Amino acid sequence: MVFHLRRFTSRRVLLFISAGFLFFVFIFSLTPITAPLPPYTGPHEVGILDVETEVQNQVIHDAILKDTGGKPFELSTLAITLYYPSSLSAAPPSSRPWARPWLPQPVSLIGEGYARLAGVSYLSSVFTFALWLLGSSTVIPGVVDAPILSGAEKVLVDESGGAAGFNKILSAAEQEHQELKRDADFGTLPCVVFTHGMAGMSQSYSHYLGSIASHGYVVAAVEHRDGSGPGTIIHHPNGTEKEVWHLKLKDLESNPPMTDLDLKAAQLAFRQIEIQETIKLFAQLNAGDPPFVNLKPDSPRESLPGFNHRLNLSSVTVAGHSYGATGVLQALKAAGTKEMPINGGIALDPGKGSGPLNKDIDVPIMVMQSGEWTEQQTEFYGQGWHFDVVRKIVESVKEGWFTTLTGTAHPSCTDAPLIVPWIMKLVTGTTLDSRVALREYIDTSVRFLEYLQTGEKKGVLGSDVTSASGPLGDEEKRTKVKGFYGADWEVHAVPQ
Ligand SMILES: *[C@@H]1O[C@H](CO)[C@@H](O)[C@H](O)[C@H]1NC(C)=O
Ligand SMILES: *[C@@H]1O[C@H](CO)[C@@H](O)[C@H](O)[C@H]1NC(C)=O
Repeated sequence: MVFHLRRFTSRRVLLFISAGFLFFVFIFSLTPITAPLPPYTGPHEVGILDVETEVQNQVIHDAILKDTGGKPFELSTLAITLYYPSSLSAAPPSSRPWARPWLPQPVSLIGEGYARLAGVSYLSSVFTFALWLLGSSTVIPGVVDAPILSGAEKVLVDESGGAAGFNKILSAAEQEHQELKRDADFGTLPCVVFTHGMAGMSQSYSHYLGSIASHGYVVAAVEHRDGSGPGTIIHHPNGTEKEVWHLKLKDLESNPPMTDLDLKAAQLAFRQIEIQETIKLFAQLNAGDPPFVNLKPDSPRESLPGFNHRLNLSSVTVAGHSYGATGVLQALKAAGTKEMPINGGIALDPGKGSGPLNKDIDVPIMVMQSGEWTEQQTEFYGQGWHFDVVRKIVESVKEGWFTTLTGTAHPSCTDAPLIVPWIMKLVTGTTLDSRVALREYIDTSVRFLEYLQTGEKKGVLGSDVTSASGPLGDEEKRTKVKGFYGADWEVHAVPQ
């Protein structure tokens, strides 16, 4: 009897749990917390590929980890996510996984990484669950390992002008066969290297980067192994793995002890070498010498030989957000050297606490700030207000723009406000719709990249200064200019 009763109770508990679960799923489906990522904004379809490759081993700083004695600043492989314009027509249907999960695998690594980052390691399963709940249904639109767009297709789609889709590219490919044989070198693709922010990952900006790719750019988003992200795994060629966790000063041992600024300097130096290695990889791909193995588990490499002669290596631009934007300004110091043959930089919300910003810049730059970044001013390393420091840097560059997209917050250029729109709106207090904000960021970025090719100033680039002193000047002198999607931009500095 007792036995019987207990069985009955556990069955009831099970019933309750299932009912509760179904109820939750029901509520969830009525008011979705998460939204799918929108389609990219440009005329081309997008290929996507994670690549990890061995690079020459380098130790950037000789500090060691207190826990394990490991070397946190040793670089042995480069990991990037490639987003590139693709020609789907050439892909056999069987080899088309149509999308890639947004959450990196294993999710528990990222969950634990964020828990450590927040200083609550014991809550890692809660973080993993939350990530799974909010992120697991999201996929990055695009075709994994799709063939890169051919020269003739690029020209045809460009000539037809404007929003095209799969069908247009297909018919362009057909026309290509019927009509002219074009020079294989015609229409090589400009390249972009993207560097993520503190606590970011290579796929945290997939909509922004995939959209730039859909406008005809080959974008490599670096997965930095400098200890700034939540967690990442290095896959060595000999089959062993190494986990890299988020680094804090207290995790490190060195003689003399590192300061916070030393740590930032070491990480930025590490990032700079990863950017250089990415540019080297572009050159290798363009030379038809792609990495022989893709160290990233389960990631193919079929499309890589197709990059032969497809990249315009005299058009490599660096872009980054936050900590990454600080890294962009730093990388521009070396622009034009053999290691850094870069033609310009895009800096989204340059860091406020990641060390002083480099002022020595000879190539065009576009600094875009979120409304939040511009409004909330802080003193910057004894140099004055952050806004003033950034404006002076931009004004000292021959071709520099400094703008603010109003109504946005620091994470507005990431995928987060697209995937969990109302949570992000509540947390960040943005007034501009998150999709519009991204469209504006993408449009202005693409206009800038086009400017680097053609010298034409379109969109916000064509505006005069509307608000020279931004939050530091008189409120009535802060006028705005409309972006292509109707949002308000402040323009603080333009080329003379
Ligand atoms: C595998 O390669 C890594 C990096 O080169 C090295 O640190 C590790 O000791 C190697 N492990 C084995 C078992 O060979
Ligand atoms: C490569 O990019 C440069 C500008 O960065 C441009 O002048 C040149 O025409 C491009 N070459 C090709 C083949 O598209």
